[in-house]
Amino acid sequence: MALRLGDEAPNFTAETTEGTINFHEWLGGGWAILFSHPKDFTPVCTTELGYMARIVPEFKKRGVKVLAISVDPLDSHKGWIKDINETQQCTVAYPLIADPERKVATLYDMIHPNALDNMTVRSVFVIGPDKKIKLMLTYPASCGRNFDELLRTIDSLQLTAKHKVATPVNWKHGEDCIITPAVPDDEAKKLFPGYRTVKPYLRYTTQPK
Ligand code: BEZ
Repeated sequence: MALRLGDEAPNFTAETTEGTINFHEWLGGGWAILFSHPKDFTPVCTTELGYMARIVPEFKKRGVKVLAISVDPLDSHKGWIKDINETQQCTVAYPLIADPERKVATLYDMIHPNALDNMTVRSVFVIGPDKKIKLMLTYPASCGRNFDELLRTIDSLQLTAKHKVATPVNWKHGEDCIITPAVPDDEAKKLFPGYRTVKPYLRYTTQPK
């Protein structure tokens, strides 16, 4: 059955460019991002993995571990990383899963045969400290993802995990948030003093600390 938000991220053991990983042990009760790319030595993937390598510190700052996957074997990954480092001015220092038997790709439903029959599409899973899936994205091979958007979604996920707020359209860290409808006004007054009501269902507050 396809994975859904709130499901436990399935466990697996896999070979990666940084050694063997048992996924649940590797998660270790923290946040993580798992993202697939269709194929090694392809142009869009090269730019994506290079950009990710350059912004890994931003994920680290947020306590999020980074893990990539494709169905190519380990030797191929190792050769390709040299090209990525050379062409994208970076050092790829996060693990890439080698999944030639498509075990992880199948577990995470990353192969969409009507789009691409022998490679993964561009899937993203953000996993929370409870090992549950907090966010999923699926892009076709032709469309490189916006990795800054992934950081933005993580900021939202981490904020809303702690506070009774949601984040409005195009929200960025530091901007006003929305008080969730489940919070009655008397509680909102205590939790978010000075909050602003536009409609009874649309209430804004400054971003909780
Ligand atoms: C790419 O990364 O450029 C790519 C990969 C698979 C199919 C099409 C494009």
